[in-house]
Amino acid sequence: MRHLVSIRDLDQKTIHDLVDKALGNPEDLPIFDGEKVLLLFLEASSRTRVSFEVATHDLKAKPILVQEQGSSLEKNETLQDTLLNFRSMGLRTFVIRCKEKDDLLSLCNISGVSIINAGDGKREHPTQALLDLTTLRSFFSWKGLEKKTLAIVGDLKSSRVAQSWSLLAPLVGLKLRLVSPPEWRPQSWGSEHSYFDKLKDGVVGADFVMSLRVQKERHDAAESAVTDRFIQGFQLNANNLSSGAFLMHPGPVNWGVELHAELQKHSNSLILKQVKHGVDLRRALLAEILSAQVQGQ
Ligand code: CP
Repeated sequence: MRHLVSIRDLDQKTIHDLVDKALGNPEDLPIFDGEKVLLLFLEASSRTRVSFEVATHDLKAKPILVQEQGSSLEKNETLQDTLLNFRSMGLRTFVIRCKEKDDLLSLCNISGVSIINAGDGKREHPTQALLDLTTLRSFFSWKGLEKKTLAIVGDLKSSRVAQSWSLLAPLVGLKLRLVSPPEWRPQSWGSEHSYFDKLKDGVVGADFVMSLRVQKERHDAAESAVTDRFIQGFQLNANNLSSGAFLMHPGPVNWGVELHAELQKHSNSLILKQVKHGVDLRRALLAEILSAQVQGQ
């Protein structure tokens, strides 16, 4: 694997292999002494950034972190020029969190580089969906997962995680329910998914319920006006989360908005397991990408 920009880059076998490697023994992965991984983060991040750093260290490679603040992107240097300059310093593997205006796909055309999407505006966040899947797979076989239902509840239209899931679920046979107020429903995520505008209908009988952060910073005026109604009608709490359902959230959580604070210590919460699997999945992914880089030298 040379790049991971979209779930569209993957087939079912690649997904199964990657997730199973993530759940395997980290000591079975190759090490990459002397290799470097450039982490370029142009939006805020805690989980994704640090888990990629930890994963890079685990593989004995060196992470180099660049954030927009303090870089020449602040002086209007383009992302393309920034990468070309880093490429001239011998860097080839780039983990990038970027903004709406940026174009990750065009960066894949720079000779010899690997691009890993670490969150791409409102478009996709493939490693988050894959680490979520790693958490699901830690409970069930691949065959067992085909009978399961995942309900994603919340600010779908702003969510790169939900968009990656809309592509990932059909590839692994999971049934996906997308639950939101009509104003936050995406227009074009595929007719194979079920869409709900009532929380109760969307979560009843679901095996996994994933809540999403309300992304106020991405809302236009019409989307912003929905937030209070969302909190009344869609906030998950101990009563409306079906008993037996596992609770998930990609983080960061806004307690009191999408999740009631009483769920902080919920016995079926997988939220911190997802975070642990973030390191596992990203370590396995980096091992694939760095192997392809080393072989291509
Ligand atoms: N889930 C996620 O991407 O979290 P961060 O924004 O903290 O990386």
